[in-house]
Amino acid sequence: MHDAQLRMLSTYNVVFASVRGCAQRSALLLILFLLAHVAIGKADAVSALERARSLDMPAATATVNAEFEHADFWETNGHTIREAWLELDQANLALADIVDPSLLESIEAARDNPTLANEENVLSSFIETGPPGKGLAYTSRLLTSEGIRALRSELDKATSSGIPLRRPNAMNRYGCIIDKDVDGAVSLSSLTSFVEDLIDGIARPVGRALFNHTVGTEDDKEHFAHTIRYNAEGDMELKEHRDASVVTLNINLNLPEESYDGSSLYLLDEEDIGSDGTGTRHFLEFEPGALLIHRGSVRHAVLPISSGSRQNLIIWLFGEDGQVRVAPYNEKDRLTVEQRWGKEMENNDHDDDKWKPEL
Ligand SMILES: [Fe+2]
Repeated sequence: MHDAQLRMLSTYNVVFASVRGCAQRSALLLILFLLAHVAIGKADAVSALERARSLDMPAATATVNAEFEHADFWETNGHTIREAWLELDQANLALADIVDPSLLESIEAARDNPTLANEENVLSSFIETGPPGKGLAYTSRLLTSEGIRALRSELDKATSSGIPLRRPNAMNRYGCIIDKDVDGAVSLSSLTSFVEDLIDGIARPVGRALFNHTVGTEDDKEHFAHTIRYNAEGDMELKEHRDASVVTLNINLNLPEESYDGSSLYLLDEEDIGSDGTGTRHFLEFEPGALLIHRGSVRHAVLPISSGSRQNLIIWLFGEDGQVRVAPYNEKDRLTVEQRWGKEMENNDHDDDKWKPEL
C-alpha cells in the first residue's frame, strides 16, 4: 500500500474514530438526558400532597426556641404544604348554609340599611355574659346543627389529611391555624373563605357595635383564626390569660350529641381582681353552635376537661402590625352606625403580606 493510501486510510480511521466517538458521546449524552428526564419526571410525579405527608413534622409538644418553635421547618415547607391543600376536595361553606337564619337575616338588614333600629334588632340576639353590667362579653346562637356538621366535616378532613399542622400558639398545641397566608396553617379554601366571610359579614360589624367605645376602623383590620381541641390526649385546659385582640370570637363547634365533662369557661372582671391576683369567676353557659364574643383584654380561662372532647373556633381581630387598642375613644371619635355596618367597613385584610401573631 502506498504512503498516500496509508495516510488516506489513517485519515479515514481518525475521522471514523472521531465520528464513532462523537456518536458514542452523543448516545451517552442522550442516555444521560433521558435518565435525567425520567428522574425529573418521577420527582414531578410525587404530588405536593405526598411530599407534605412525608415531612417529619416537629412534635406538638416540642418547645425549641420558645415562641418561635421550629419556625424554620414551617417556613421551609410552607409552600409545599400550601400546594398540598390545593389537592384536596373543597366543600362550599356559605354563611347562608351555616349561620342561624334569623340572625343572618337581621344582620343582612343592618348591612343593607345601617340604621340604629336595624342594629338594635341584631343586638337583641346577643345576651350579656361574664361580669354583669360591664359590657365585656356577649353570647348568641350562631351556627345551625347542619352548619356545625359542615364545618366539622371540613376540619376533620384537614386534621386527618396527614398534612403537617402548625400549632396555633404555646398554650394551644393540638388545634390548627386557618389562614392561607401563614406557613403551616390549614389553607383549605372552604375554611379560609368561611372565616373571611364570617369576619366581614358578622364579626367586624357586631364587634364594632358591641364595643363601640374601643373599636375604630383601624383596630379590627387583621385577624388570626385557629381551633382548639380539648381532650385527654391533647390540650386539657387553658390557663388564665388575655388575648392579643380587640375583639375575640369563640365559637362552640361541638355537635349537640357530643358530651364532655369539665372544660368550663369563665371570665374575670379585671377591676375585681384583688392584690392576690384572684377575682370572681363568671362561668358561662356555652351551647353547641353558640358564639361568645368578648373584648380581648378580658381575662378568661378554661378548666380541665375530665371526659369527652370539645372543639372551638377562635378568631382574634386586631389592628395593623398586631396593634391592640385598649384605651376608649372619645364620644365624638366613635364610629357612626354607617361605619359600623356599611359595606365600606369591609377592611379586607386578606393580602399576602399581613402581620401575624408570633407563633
Ligand atoms: Fe383566649
